[in-house]
Formats: sequence, structure tokens, C-alpha cells
Amino acid sequence: MARLTVNGRSVEVNVNPSTPLLWAIREQVGLTGTKYGCGVAQCGACTVHLDGKAVRSCVMPVAAAEGKQVTTIEGLASNGVLHKVQKAWVDYEVPQCGYCQAGLIMAVAALLKDKPKPTDADIDASITNICRCGTFQQVREAIHAAAKA
Ligand code: FES
Ligand code: FES
Repeated sequence: MARLTVNGRSVEVNVNPSTPLLWAIREQVGLTGTKYGCGVAQCGACTVHLDGKAVRSCVMPVAAAEGKQVTTIEGLASNGVLHKVQKAWVDYEVPQCGYCQAGLIMAVAALLKDKPKPTDADIDASITNICRCGTFQQVREAIHAAAKA
């Protein structure tokens, strides 16, 4: 049993403390926007924020998230207003199949918090998410658009 704060809501999850946060979020809290891709911290599909920092929840034990603020894609918009990264994603029609996109958006939102005007080199260094549909060029354009918003 563990108590988590997810998108500002305190929730109790009935899992072993070593269970990956991803499974607690999806199966116990019922928020399925965060996806399972590789399970080994390589693809970024499972990216959420822990106290505002992007983390790969497939390798983050639930115990490490206790006492911290977990934010998932479902909690990124505020009062029904899309986050500027979500807005840019819509404007630039970034998603194709969409599977990787929640993780990408969460990674980019964390990047812009740290570096409001990232260069292409900053993007290359920090956005290492894998998109099997190859949306990387649209992702880069949308990041620069969000940075100007
Ligand atoms: S599912 Fe977590 S990084 Fe791929
Ligand atoms: S949009 Fe299909 S995997 Fe990225």
C-alpha cells in the first residue's frame, strides 16, 4: 500500500513499493494516458512529472514517488485550458498514431520549464523519446512554437 499525489489528488494504491509507478498510475489510479512502450527507460512513452521533472515511470518504483507530486498527461491542462505544448501539438498536427505522444508532451513541458527557449541542441540532448511514426520534425517545430507562445 502506498499513498500518492497524482494530478493534485491524494490516492491510495494497493501495490508493492517496488512496483513501477507506471502500473500504479494506469491500473490503480485508472489514468491510461501514460503508455507502456519498452519498460526499460529507453522510449519515453511512460514519461510523467515527479515534482515537475520528467521521469520514466516504467522504471520508477512507487516508493520513490511517495511524498512527491506526480503529474500525468491528464493533469497537464489547467482548468480546461491546454498547456502551451498541447496547443502547439494541435496546431502543428504532431501526432500520427499517437501512442508515444503523451510521453513526448510531458518531456517537452518539463524541458520548457527548465529552458524556456531551447536550442536544437538542447532539444536533441533532452528529448530522447522514440516515436515509431517518425514525428521528430513536427515535434521540433512544435517545441519552437510552444517556446514562443
Ligand atoms: S516504457 Fe518507459 S521508457 Fe519505454
Ligand atoms: S505518433 Fe506513433 S509512435 Fe509516435
